[in-house]
Amino acid sequence: MKKTKIFADANLTVGTIDPNLYGSFIEHLGRAVYEGIYEPGHKTADENGFRRDVLELVKELNVPIVRYPGGNFLSGYDWRDGVGPREKRPTRLDLAWFSTETNEFGTDEFMKWCRVAGVTPMMGVNMGTGTIKDAAQLVEYCNHEGGTDISEMRRANGAKEPYHVRYWCIGNEMDGPWQIGHLTAEEYGRKALEAAKVMRWANGELKEEDGTNWAERPLKLIVSGSSNHEIKTFPEWDRVVLEHTYEAVDYLSMHRYYMYDEDRDDPLMDFLGSADDMHEYIGTLRATIEYVRAKVRSKKKLYLSFDEWNIWTVTAPRHEPLWKQAPHLLEDVYTFRDAIVFAGLMNTLLNNCDIVKLGCLAQLVNVIAPIMTKKGGGVFRQTSFYPFRYLANNARGETLRTFSDSDVFGNMFGKARFINEAVTHDRANRRVCVSLCNYDEEAREVELELRSFGEPEAVEYVEMTSLDLDAVNGFGAEKVKPHRKELPEMEAGRTFLTLPALSWSFLILQY
Ligand code: AHR
Repeated sequence: MKKTKIFADANLTVGTIDPNLYGSFIEHLGRAVYEGIYEPGHKTADENGFRRDVLELVKELNVPIVRYPGGNFLSGYDWRDGVGPREKRPTRLDLAWFSTETNEFGTDEFMKWCRVAGVTPMMGVNMGTGTIKDAAQLVEYCNHEGGTDISEMRRANGAKEPYHVRYWCIGNEMDGPWQIGHLTAEEYGRKALEAAKVMRWANGELKEEDGTNWAERPLKLIVSGSSNHEIKTFPEWDRVVLEHTYEAVDYLSMHRYYMYDEDRDDPLMDFLGSADDMHEYIGTLRATIEYVRAKVRSKKKLYLSFDEWNIWTVTAPRHEPLWKQAPHLLEDVYTFRDAIVFAGLMNTLLNNCDIVKLGCLAQLVNVIAPIMTKKGGGVFRQTSFYPFRYLANNARGETLRTFSDSDVFGNMFGKARFINEAVTHDRANRRVCVSLCNYDEEAREVELELRSFGEPEAVEYVEMTSLDLDAVNGFGAEKVKPHRKELPEMEAGRTFLTLPALSWSFLILQY
C-alpha cells in the first residue's frame, strides 16, 4: 500500500477560521424559496409558512450566514416588489431563470426566516437593472430607525426595529454576459464605488474626510469579482474593479462550480483535481489583491468572499415550459463521487482561511443544495450534506499548515495531490480535526503526526466510502453517509490511518 506522511504543528498556522466560511445561499431560483424554506400549508410549516423540517436540517448544518436574494435573479430584482401587503405585490417575469416570481416572499420574510434559523442575513443590491439610489434605499429600509418615507415603510410592514444588516453584496457576477445588465469592468468598478459610497452614507457612516476608520465601518461590503477563472476577463476584471473600489469595500467575491463530465478524456481524474484547482484560483486572486493594495498605496487588508461554490452538473433545463412558478431547476442529486470532491473543496477553503473569510455553499435547499424537499412531503440529506455538517460543526479555530509528501496525478487543471488534507485546531475546545480525501483508486496508508499537542486522543473517526461512485441519497433513503470507524491508537500525536480507495475520512482529537 502506498504511504503518505502528513505532519502539522500547533504553532504553525495558516490563519483564523472565520465562522462565516460555513455560510450558504438562498436565491429566488427554482424551488429554493417556494417549496424549499417557505411552504405555507405544509404540515411542518410554522405561522410564517417556514418549513420546520428544513429549518432543522439548516440548524444541523450549523450555517452561520445566508446570502439572499441572488444570484442572477438579483440583477433584475426590484426589492420594493417584495415588501408590503402581499395582495398588492406584483407578479413579475424573472428574466434570469425564465420563471414567474410572485413576490410572496421578500426582504421582511427573509429577515424573519434568518431570525428563526439563527443565521445572519447577507443581502445583495441589484447592479444590473438597479440604480445606486435603489441600493441606498434598501440599506435605508433595512437599517434606518424611522422617520423617513422608506424606513417608515418597513415599520408599517411590521418591523418596528431596524434589521441592522451588515453584509451586502454589490451586485452579482457583473462580469458575465449572461447577467441582466452585464457591465464592463470599468463600468462596474465605477458604479460599485458610487453604490458603496451611498450605501454607507445611508447607513450613517461618515465620509472619508470626516475621519472614518475603514476597519470600524459597520457595513461589510462585497464587490463582485470574477464569476469563475475560465472567463476571459479573469483576472483583469478583478484588478480593474479593485482599483476603483479597494478603499470602499471589504471583500472581493469569487464564484466557482465544478462538475463531473463524462465527455472529458479522463472524467474521474479531472473531477478529482477540483480541490487543488480551487486552491490555484484563490492564489491568483490573493496575488491580485496584493498587487492592487500596493498600487493604490493602501494599508488595508481586503479579504475574499467565496460566496458561490459547489458542484453543479445539471444545466437549467429549457424543455420545461417557460414562466413556471417555482419550477424544478438545478436539482442536482449528488453522488458519492460528488461528496468526496466536495470534501476536498472544503479542505481548500480551510487551507486558505487567512484570506477567504466568508464562504457561501451555493445553494442551501433544492437548487444545487445539500437539502432536498418534496412539495407537501419530506426532506432528505444529500451526500454533500455530511462533509459540510462534520466540518462546519467541528473544524473551527485555526487551520494548521500541513506538510505532506503526497504524490500527484495529472488532470485537466494541472497536477493535484492524491491525498488532500486539512487540519484545524480549536484552542478554546482543545480539539484538532483532520479531514482527509483519498483521490487514489487504491487504498492508502497515511502516517499522521500532530506535533506540540502532547498526547491527543482520537474521540471520533468517520469515513465515507462506497463501491458505487454513482450512489445517491433520496427520500427515506440516506444510504450514502459517513460510518463510524474504530478509533485509531495515538502515540504522542502519531498514528497510522488506512484510507480506502476514493474516500473521505474525518478524525476528531482532543488533548
Ligand atoms: O447559484 C446558481 C447561479 O450560479 C447564480 O444565480 C449565479 O450567480 C451563478 O452563475
